[in-house]
Amino acid sequence: MKTPALAHPADLAPRLLRWFDQHRRDLPWRRTTDPYHVWVSEVMLQQTQVTTVIPYYEGFLKAFPDVQALAAAPLDAVLGLWAGLGYYSRARNLHAAARVICTKHGGRFPDDYEAVRALPGVGEYTAGAVLSIAYGMRLPALDGNAFRVLARVWGVRGEVQRGPARRRLVALGREAVPTDRPGDYNQALMEQGSQVCVPRQPHCGECCLADICVALAQGLQEQIPESRRAAPTHVTMSAALVLRRGKVLLARRPPTGVWGGLWELPNTEGDERQLLASLRDAFGLASSEAVQFARLTHGIMNRRVTLTAYLVPGNTGRSRASGHEAVAWVDPAAADGHAMPAPHRKLLARLAEHLRAGRLAL
Ligand code: ADE
Repeated sequence: MKTPALAHPADLAPRLLRWFDQHRRDLPWRRTTDPYHVWVSEVMLQQTQVTTVIPYYEGFLKAFPDVQALAAAPLDAVLGLWAGLGYYSRARNLHAAARVICTKHGGRFPDDYEAVRALPGVGEYTAGAVLSIAYGMRLPALDGNAFRVLARVWGVRGEVQRGPARRRLVALGREAVPTDRPGDYNQALMEQGSQVCVPRQPHCGECCLADICVALAQGLQEQIPESRRAAPTHVTMSAALVLRRGKVLLARRPPTGVWGGLWELPNTEGDERQLLASLRDAFGLASSEAVQFARLTHGIMNRRVTLTAYLVPGNTGRSRASGHEAVAWVDPAAADGHAMPAPHRKLLARLAEHLRAGRLAL
């Protein structure tokens, strides 16, 4: 195939919008242009799949139907509804930004780019997405999917995460946004990347940009963009289900960092021995017994974690927390009020199920 002349940025919008009008997925946040709803959806969609987001989006808006409700809510309630979605700083920032919107912007999501960028947690992507979708402003919203599409269309080699290739794509991407329907265009570009121009074995046969795609013409669609993602690190961790009179021990993490402000099972990197040592050092629990209960794997950041949970009797020693904000003894079947990361919530649910079925007695 002959390599096409490089596309003019204006070539993208008509193709993408025509395709989007026929193929757009009917998603809950596509039935609204309410900036608050669009904002919540765009924050949830960062690093998270559409199918995972849908129930969280619906539950969140039911609990906090407008910016005022979100601003008035305690952070715990917000984290509780976020539990399982991951990247919890998103929830903390959303909550903090809602408060700023109420105090500084009269409770209405601002329509000024600089004011939006100044909100906690709002970067270039989120500002562009919300302002283009909700207010029709001509701004780009380039997520990883969009960058891949643009890199292939223009045959841009090199890493797209940073450096000159990225700067070139940002410039082209900005120029390509149409005046008419910029929000639909941005969504079309991202949707195209997630549905058609996928990382491996892209569906070039059904792509509306195939006639202007340099990567396709050169057979380089699998090589572009270059991926520099490091292989995940494998980590072994252990968590304790410390049991005392029918209750299990939870500890609350400090407010910042990974899983900030969430409740968790006491845990440590390493095996059973290291877990018992950490229970002694951090919680004052002198137990020498741990019975393996369950094992699961989960991913966090760029780590693949194999997490083994142990049952540990908790009658020995005091329980205090060092490195945590608080500890609580909770009924495993009634821990909903405590916002927990997904893997720990799963372990607790499994424990509650065992207790309910009488497979385990406390
Ligand atoms: N990814 C993140 N936000 C999106 C949107 N509004 N449409 C399609 N893909 C997206």
